[in-house]
Amino acid sequence: MSLGRFPAIRPRRNRYDAWTRRLVAEHRLSIDDLIWPVFIAEGTNRLTDVAAMPGVQRATLDRLVAHVGQAAELGIPAVALFPATPAELKDAEGSESGNPDNLICRAARLLKQAFPQLGLIGDVALDPYTDHGHDGVIRNGYVANDETLAVLTRQAVIQAEAGIDVIAPSDMMDGRVGAIRAALDDAGLIHTRVMSYAAKYASAFYGPFREAVGSARALTGDKKTYQMDPANSDEALREVALDLGEGADMVMVKPGLPYLDIIRRVHERFGVPTFAYQVSGEYAMIMAAVQNGWLDHDAAMLESLMAFKRAGAAGVLSYFAPAAARLLRGG
Ligand code: PBG
Repeated sequence: MSLGRFPAIRPRRNRYDAWTRRLVAEHRLSIDDLIWPVFIAEGTNRLTDVAAMPGVQRATLDRLVAHVGQAAELGIPAVALFPATPAELKDAEGSESGNPDNLICRAARLLKQAFPQLGLIGDVALDPYTDHGHDGVIRNGYVANDETLAVLTRQAVIQAEAGIDVIAPSDMMDGRVGAIRAALDDAGLIHTRVMSYAAKYASAFYGPFREAVGSARALTGDKKTYQMDPANSDEALREVALDLGEGADMVMVKPGLPYLDIIRRVHERFGVPTFAYQVSGEYAMIMAAVQNGWLDHDAAMLESLMAFKRAGAAGVLSYFAPAAARLLRGG
């Protein structure tokens, strides 16, 4: 009988019963890993469904405390707020992004007061506010980098002043992390963290989100001159290195499951808190299969979230956050 191979070696022994499997598990998913993206809308007393995201709703401000209360009660550490801006408030420059009384600022003040212990993450980019749906301002047919920075820094400062704890720039302009960090510091907001969407790809998987925030119909063209090419991986490391150098406290890779290789590389190279965004299209795919009876909701959800932990993510932004937290808590 030869040692070092079968039949002496049987990896299945460690899978024999549930308690052994628990003991040898290399990674764990906990409620502490979850960030819940929340859509907010103008109006009163409405929770409206997002068609391509079954189970996801936009809440008006009067319903927001109860809506987000679920997350707070479940112990989810943070929510990421996304406003659906009414078309009449959109313009080419995204001016509403700098209004201290805009939807996200009002939401932040409300939530900070209701749930002082809940982390609030604010997306910084112009697409919810521009009538062309791009993340920056357009000059000569091109999304202009440096002109956009000035608008983004104001957006970041007013959000932080309204109670947003973590500024999350999702615009992919060059130099925005440094510009935002400097503007926050100048305003005395030294504790406001920056979670940069460092490696954000020009992806087809954002479709349902654009419907949810109402930028889909507005969007002309694509975002390939600023979001990354899905063919690239080394470039993601460069983007992350730049953002860390400019002061990012945490970095993000987006989308999630199709880009696990990037999460792994970023985590291994930099060893900084690296987050994954399981985006709207990923959620939509799983839910569509669930609704057809083709996948088991709970199992598919937990397996997809565990994959992020295995890849090295510190946490995951996921529309599944409340459902996953409920399961992890035990029902
Ligand atoms: C805005 C932004 C997008 C997402 C998050 N922030 C859309 C985009 O870049 O077009 C997508 C999130 C999702 O699909 O769940 N800059």
